[in-house]
Amino acid sequence: MNIDIKFFDSVDSTNKRLREMAQSGCENGTVIVAWSQTEGRGRLGRSFCSPHGGIYMSILLPYDETMMLTAKAAVAVKRAIYEITGKKCRIKWVNDILLDGKKVCGILAEACEKQVVLGIGINFSTRSADFPDEIKNIAGSLYPNPSKQETDELDLIHSIVDNLVKLCENRDDSWLYDYKASDCLVGKEVKIIQANKVTGDGIVTEIDNNCALHIMKNGKETVLTTGEVSIREK
Ligand code: BTN
Repeated sequence: MNIDIKFFDSVDSTNKRLREMAQSGCENGTVIVAWSQTEGRGRLGRSFCSPHGGIYMSILLPYDETMMLTAKAAVAVKRAIYEITGKKCRIKWVNDILLDGKKVCGILAEACEKQVVLGIGINFSTRSADFPDEIKNIAGSLYPNPSKQETDELDLIHSIVDNLVKLCENRDDSWLYDYKASDCLVGKEVKIIQANKVTGDGIVTEIDNNCALHIMKNGKETVLTTGEVSIREK
């Protein structure tokens, strides 16, 4: 796959822009990076807060089932963050990357005809003051104090793309093992959230080979392939 990266200061949404470009016939491997977004999109119809200090990027890839692609992308981002910054992140099913328990990255895969627009939003040097109040206690940043930033955004972008392309071209079959080993949910008590409503709870028992999440409650198992969970505070 030929990689062609285009940089913008600010766009509405890199996923939206890349989808428009895909509809006009651009090639797999096209990447859009913006340093802020005015209408960043999140999973489940939510918005994604995208102030300066973050890296907002989308890459056009050949079609793959979106949940597996999202999981592969989570592994690629986790590996790239470690390679470039030395920071060890964990993965919260299915698409969140956490550092010290706070979300530093979200991933959104959107199918588009025979391709997928894969969007990745990273809080790189975003200051806590730049997060809205409602996410201040759950959002984190790789370098919350930008004066202590030791690495370069461009190195991280290139490493993410390299890791992702390797996984998408099936040149690494250890990714699922890595996904499971990086998981932060197995053994935890969680609330199940579907269509923005809590629909149940239970203990997470496993992530299976299709990346579905298994939750047990009173001997009854729920298997999630979509939606999300939140960790229950004790
Ligand atoms: C989530 O956590 O809900 C997924 C967030 C995905 C955000 C990224 S930022 C780059 C790309 N463009 C968007 O509008 N969204 C994705």
